[in-house]
Amino acid sequence: MKKILVIGASGQIGSELTGQLRARFGEANVIASDIRPIENDANSETLDVLDGDAVKTICEKHAISDVYLLAALLSATAEKNPEFAWKLNMDGLFNVLNLAKDGLIKKVFWPSSIAVFGPGTPRDRTPQNTIMDPNTVYGISKQAGERWCEYYHQKFGIDVRSIRYPGLISYSTPPGGGTTDYAIEIFHEANKTGRYSCFLSENTRLPMLYMDDAVRATIDIMEAPADSIKVRSSYNLGGLDFTPKELSEAIKKHKPDFEIQYSPDFRQKIADSWPASIDDSEAQTDWGWKPEVSLDQMVNIMLTNC
Ligand code: SER
Repeated sequence: MKKILVIGASGQIGSELTGQLRARFGEANVIASDIRPIENDANSETLDVLDGDAVKTICEKHAISDVYLLAALLSATAEKNPEFAWKLNMDGLFNVLNLAKDGLIKKVFWPSSIAVFGPGTPRDRTPQNTIMDPNTVYGISKQAGERWCEYYHQKFGIDVRSIRYPGLISYSTPPGGGTTDYAIEIFHEANKTGRYSCFLSENTRLPMLYMDDAVRATIDIMEAPADSIKVRSSYNLGGLDFTPKELSEAIKKHKPDFEIQYSPDFRQKIADSWPASIDDSEAQTDWGWKPEVSLDQMVNIMLTNC
């Protein structure tokens, strides 16, 4: 019997993933957990992923089989608090991987990121296997995490699955301090004030994905037969890629008076070290990944709902 624990269920991905998992597997079979209490949710727990004993207790209490570990500090926030970012991103992963090693849970989803790549990585259609020289704390923690996931799979047979998320775009829960957050802020400001000051320069191309596609990919990779998951570090995942200028032009099709200006800050350097677009052919071949939401569809959805 599948029983799922989502750790970080109130975050940008967690809030939407939890809803989709519940729709598919039943409300009571998906326990939502977060460091802050989740109001009005009978199937929820307050949980600090750094408290290994508490993670274990909750997994035992609910006879959890699958864990989706989404608690993390994103790239921009991590640069402001490197030690805590490293601790949260690494120790949280170990707390969950070790439960799998002890046989308490069966399957783990852990998100990686395009941040595992760095200035030496080929930027266009970045391949699955290539130079990885991340120069952010977040990227270093994600790359190390990928190595540990593969290690636990090879050494202990742990069924851990992972995706390198690009920038994720959604409207219902704000993102947690990433370099790709401009692509969300821009919609809120377009609706509120009709103008936006972008913290990245106009031609900064980054890989992105609409949240519905990202959530579908996450559930698909977790539900795929184990022998189809050939990559046990983390899969490249692509979908969209665009620059702030291209995004503003897509917004102008709906709001001709929309104005954008550019004042790049410290996040520009992070963005410059990341891929512009992603080659995700291995995810396509191994477990059938296919993005569905186009740039224009995403813009339409965001402007309608922000
Ligand atoms: N969206 C994330 C960030 O900008 C990338 O994983 O940090």
